[in-house]
Amino acid sequence: MALSPKKLHITSFGCQMNAYDAERMAEALAGQGYEETANIEEAELVILNTCHIREKAAEKVYSELGRLRQLKERRMREGLETKIVVAGCVAQAEGAEVIARVPMVDLVVGPQSYHRLPELVAQGMQSVETEFPAEDKFAHLPERAARRASPSAFLTVQEGCDKFCTFCVVPYTRGSEFSRSVDAIVAEAERLASSGVRELTLLGQNVNAYHGDGPDGRPWSLARLIKRLASMQSIERIRYTTSHPRDMDDDLIALHGGEEKLMPYLHLPFQSGADRILAAMNRGHSAAAYEALVKRVREARPDIAVSTDIIVGFPGETDQDFEETLALVDRVRFASAFSFKYSARPGTPAAEMTQVPEDVKAARLERLQATIELNARCFDAGQIGKRLPVLFERKGRKSGQVAGRSPYLQAVHAEGPMSLIGQIAEVDIVASGPNSLTGVIKSEFAWREPNQAAG
Ligand code: 5AD
Ligand code: SF4
Repeated sequence: MALSPKKLHITSFGCQMNAYDAERMAEALAGQGYEETANIEEAELVILNTCHIREKAAEKVYSELGRLRQLKERRMREGLETKIVVAGCVAQAEGAEVIARVPMVDLVVGPQSYHRLPELVAQGMQSVETEFPAEDKFAHLPERAARRASPSAFLTVQEGCDKFCTFCVVPYTRGSEFSRSVDAIVAEAERLASSGVRELTLLGQNVNAYHGDGPDGRPWSLARLIKRLASMQSIERIRYTTSHPRDMDDDLIALHGGEEKLMPYLHLPFQSGADRILAAMNRGHSAAAYEALVKRVREARPDIAVSTDIIVGFPGETDQDFEETLALVDRVRFASAFSFKYSARPGTPAAEMTQVPEDVKAARLERLQATIELNARCFDAGQIGKRLPVLFERKGRKSGQVAGRSPYLQAVHAEGPMSLIGQIAEVDIVASGPNSLTGVIKSEFAWREPNQAAG
């Protein structure tokens, strides 16, 4: 009789790279007979894939572990074993401290050791694995699985960061910059494409610093890598995130005007609109340089949606500094923006500086978010009346609807058959709401048979 598969549940917090890593961990464990389940109650192996970027994110892990302790005890009373793994950036940053605080944790594994996960789980011993091993973990992870629910996939091309912004834990938790080779990325892209993927989002903490070895033995830039991936027939859309203003080179900017498959969307954090704060953050650019950069990108691709990350209440930020951030948001007219209260992270330089009171941070965040919202609504409303190609990815919220993304990464809902999932169709945008656009699919697309999908 065949053994029933062991059940694995992964809860992932934080960034898109964690989502990518979660998939890779599941694929690595599939080789040991683990099958993913959405129902945590039946899982023999639970992985918490954690985020350390802000204090709130890190604390969430411990409240989640509290719940998992009860689950483990409950299952134990039924004679069932449950292994708890803490992965991700909290694992990397806190290591053995996680087990000291929560002794029922079986394994603590940092992002650079995921290729060792099957072996560590099989060992069955309580252990902590947070070294930065010399070998390339990507080379030791199994090939991507062939089955895919969505036509849009993440692909990590670069990991780690050498920028050392004074507020940020990433250079410590993800390590120094590492770029995968072009061949390895192309092989993964081909596998994804043959399993139905039409859109790739290239991931990296500092993705536009990409400098992986090319097949010619020389380092390739991100622009060159994108061109190579765009030459694949079944890849129809390419995105990349997250970029640093200092690494936007001329080729990459020009590509936004010249490569049709490169989507008109750019996530480019600026963090603060005040030069003295940018200097204290060690960002290596001024507010004016950032604006000049966005201007150049828009010259290459006038309709591009620019999004950003902003921190309020960095140590020493005055009301005047904050006003400069607000003014920059209004001038740049971002299509979207993520904004955060500064959160002191142990071990980073800014944690030692004089802190801004919590209530001041909260008031600034509220004002900033209102400004962001206004700009975003404006950008979205600007699409009404346009006909946009939408890549349909999933069922919509309402029955009879399908949902996908516009080139500008906006969610789009439209009435149409499920056979559209995995295809790009022309959609007339008729309305814009707080979280998505509503459209009407051009009829010739709406009733195309599934086996006539674009190839
Ligand atoms: N506090 C608040 N926000 C932070 N970010 C990074 N570190 C911190 C911190 N200590 C934000 C930055 C970054 C995004 C991913 O998270 O804006 O771009
Ligand atoms: Fe962190 Fe981004 Fe700065 Fe790197 S560039 S240190 S990931 S905020």
